[in-house]
Amino acid sequence: MTPEQASTETSRLCGLAPVVPVLVIDDASRAEGLARALVAGGLLALEVTLRTPAALDAIRAMSIVPGGVVGAGTLLTPQDVEAAKAAGATFGVSPGATDPLLDACEANDLPLLAGCSTPSEVMRLLSRGYTVAKFFPAEANGGVPMLKAWGAPLPQMRFCPTGGVSLKNASDYLALPNVLCVGGSWVAPAHLVKAQDWSAITTLAAEAAALRG
Ligand code: 3PG
Repeated sequence: MTPEQASTETSRLCGLAPVVPVLVIDDASRAEGLARALVAGGLLALEVTLRTPAALDAIRAMSIVPGGVVGAGTLLTPQDVEAAKAAGATFGVSPGATDPLLDACEANDLPLLAGCSTPSEVMRLLSRGYTVAKFFPAEANGGVPMLKAWGAPLPQMRFCPTGGVSLKNASDYLALPNVLCVGGSWVAPAHLVKAQDWSAITTLAAEAAALRG
C-alpha cells in the first residue's frame, strides 16, 4: 500500500464519525460488548491500543461486530504492525513515526495514522506522501491554536488530534479546516467498561457522534 493509498483510507476512516474512541482494554471478554455499544452510538472506527496483554484478543473479538472498523493503536515497531494485522486490525495509529514503522505498514497494507507534533514532523510525513496524520499529544502541544497556525504553511496535512481531547474542546478542534476528526478515551471510561454498562457507553458515544465543528 502506498502512502497515498493509506492517506485516502485514513481520510475515509476519519470521516466515519467525528470521534475515534481510544480504547485501553484489560479484559478481552468485554471487548465485543464495548464495540457493540460504541457502534450503536454511531462511533464506527475504533482504536484498540496495544498497551495491554489483552489488546490483540480484543481486536479479534471486536472485528466481528457489524458496522465497526477496528484498528490498532500505539504501534511502535514492525512487530507490532504484523501482530496487529494478524489479529484483524484494518488500520493503525502510532504516537510518532519512524521509517521502520512506516515501511512495515506500507509492506503489510495497513493504513497508518502516524503521529506528529512539530512542523518538521509534518513535513517529513508529507515528504513520504502522507496527507493525514495524528496530532499527538494535542492539548500538551498547543491544541487548537497550534493546529490553526499550522494550517497556513502546511495546508496539505489534515489531522486527527488526540491526547487531552474531550467533550469540552472537541468541537473547537472539529471547527478547524485541517481537522477531520478527533481521538479520545472519554467515550469509554474504565469504570463503565468494568461495569459493562453498555447503555451508558452508547449514550456517551451518541453524544460524541453528534459533535460538529
Ligand atoms: C492516549 O494516548 O491514550 C490517547 O492519546 C488518548 O488520550 P486521552 O485519554 O487524553 O483521550
